[in-house]
Amino acid sequence: MLEKDSLEVLQRALERLDAGFERLPAAAGDSRGADRIAQVLVETADRLRENYPYFHPLYAGQMLKPPHPVARLAYALAQWINPNNHALDGGRASSAMEKEAVAEIARMFGWGECLGHLTSGGTMANLEALWVAGQLAPGKTILASEQAHYTHQRICGVLQLKFESVASDERARMDSNALKARLSRGDVGTVVATMGTTATGSVDPLPEILQLRERFGFRVHCDAAYGGYFILSENLRPETASAFRRISDADSIVIDPHKHGLQPYGCGCVLFRDPGAGRFYKHDSPYTYFSSQELHLGEISLECSRPGAAAVALWATQKLLPLERNGEFAAGLQACREAALDLHQRVAKDSRFVPGFMPELDIVIFAPAAATVTACSALSRRIFETAASRDLHLAVAELPARYFARSKSAMGGDEPRLTCLRSVLMKPEHKEWMDRIWTALVESSDEVRKSGAFDVEPGGLPSAT
Ligand SMILES: Cc1ncc(COP(=O)(O)O)c(C=O)c1O
Repeated sequence: MLEKDSLEVLQRALERLDAGFERLPAAAGDSRGADRIAQVLVETADRLRENYPYFHPLYAGQMLKPPHPVARLAYALAQWINPNNHALDGGRASSAMEKEAVAEIARMFGWGECLGHLTSGGTMANLEALWVAGQLAPGKTILASEQAHYTHQRICGVLQLKFESVASDERARMDSNALKARLSRGDVGTVVATMGTTATGSVDPLPEILQLRERFGFRVHCDAAYGGYFILSENLRPETASAFRRISDADSIVIDPHKHGLQPYGCGCVLFRDPGAGRFYKHDSPYTYFSSQELHLGEISLECSRPGAAAVALWATQKLLPLERNGEFAAGLQACREAALDLHQRVAKDSRFVPGFMPELDIVIFAPAAATVTACSALSRRIFETAASRDLHLAVAELPARYFARSKSAMGGDEPRLTCLRSVLMKPEHKEWMDRIWTALVESSDEVRKSGAFDVEPGGLPSAT
């Protein structure tokens, strides 16, 4: 099941790397305890078998997938050196690779000269963006949609910045009327626009937000941690595509290469349109920054030690799969989106399910048809467990019941929130596997209903569009 042929490529690349240091006097490599290492590694493999199969197309649950082989190999190769991208002292080659890779990401958003670097993930990247935002508008409030990642509120707590949520519309996007009403009351320094929410992949209405910026004057931060790469996708709805096109007008952007960028965990990225944001990071280091007058990445990053290997892996991936429209990388995103539209259509046409709104990216939400919201939530949890026992791994999410097409079912609104099924179809292979995924889903649903544990007749839905 797991791809292993690439190990031979790693061996060859390792020899090439080794040859780069051949002028050094021989120093024995550390082969101590090879037998014990082998034994522990086998035990390690046994422990890792306890994971869900994130690499497999039947894993269609959370935002999880293994990195591209080139990223995995480049990361492993770099481990023989273990560069540290804090300073050029510790990561000379890998810092240059980080600057190049980050510049390519910035170009994807239409930015040339700007400031940016990799981080350990989306949380740290957003923390840096909101930290700068807080310095530029001290005492002012930061707004994000109620569907924004919880990290924004937590970050504001850490940074002691004022934070408020803005209501979402029927498609889980920031409600621009609610935003306008809040802006009219004043005191807002920054609005976070989420370009692909965690739960549903909804894209906040950036063109409207930018229009409001003209009137009310605030900073716009785009949290594109999940959705950012979809700027390259050709099969977005026109409304979504025009929101992505306006990302270049934001003041800062976060994107996570460790989500849709095919990278191992530990790879987020923050970008500031104004390179002058670097002044907030200014500090001296008595330990480093000696080897060169050139920019050390630690001078523009809150984290000190950072894995140079993450930059090496990203650089190699972008070399193989350039961030361009109509390229192979973009085709992968398009396939994910097609898989999501396919699943949504199947759900909408089947009386056993209630669809959520149409997916904006590649995340689908849906619920089992039931007499009440409470029964529907219980059914979702049972189907989730039963599907897992049939090797189909979905996710559940708790969301406002109004996100679901309940008018198409007999479902009574006894609760405002509903536990639904959720599927993140972020592997291009999901498209080809949709028949298998659907069969396992329907069989799981039928099995749960037949078990009779719930009084949940399907709502007799007409076929939906
Ligand atoms: C939109 C969004 N922002 C931020 C984050 C946090 O990123 P990380 O988990 O890399 O810290 C996530 C994670 O799912 C996300 O989806």
